[in-house]
Amino acid sequence: MFARIDHVGVAVEDLDAALALYERDYDMQLVHREIVEEQGVEAALLDVGENHVELLAPTAEDTPVGKFLSRRGPGLHHVAYQTGDITAELERLKASGVRLIDETPRVGIRQSRVAFLHPKSSGGVLTEIVQPSH
Ligand code: CO
Repeated sequence: MFARIDHVGVAVEDLDAALALYERDYDMQLVHREIVEEQGVEAALLDVGENHVELLAPTAEDTPVGKFLSRRGPGLHHVAYQTGDITAELERLKASGVRLIDETPRVGIRQSRVAFLHPKSSGGVLTEIVQPSH
């Protein structure tokens, strides 16, 4: 089962410009910034209570987030739910007929394990499930 919303992912063109909004104007705390090569993004994680906002800037145009930006422009990109056992959760979802983008978990920000579900079987919402590393 999903324990909580882990984060909301937002696609941005310019990470520093976006951070000015989130850190200065929204007064959120930047807790982590990392280039995740496997996903072709530079990601910034900000605290909102026990949840997060994840800002995503593409490292190149031909990455998933780069393509998203050229198709739709900046904005909401995905929602991520937290789970304690991502492998069991993926098996359960697959058995329920949910289409998976990632059949097996991959490495996400802060050494978490993540997998994406296809928006076509998730009501049009790109959905990520996350098992934190701790
Ligand atoms: Co995410």
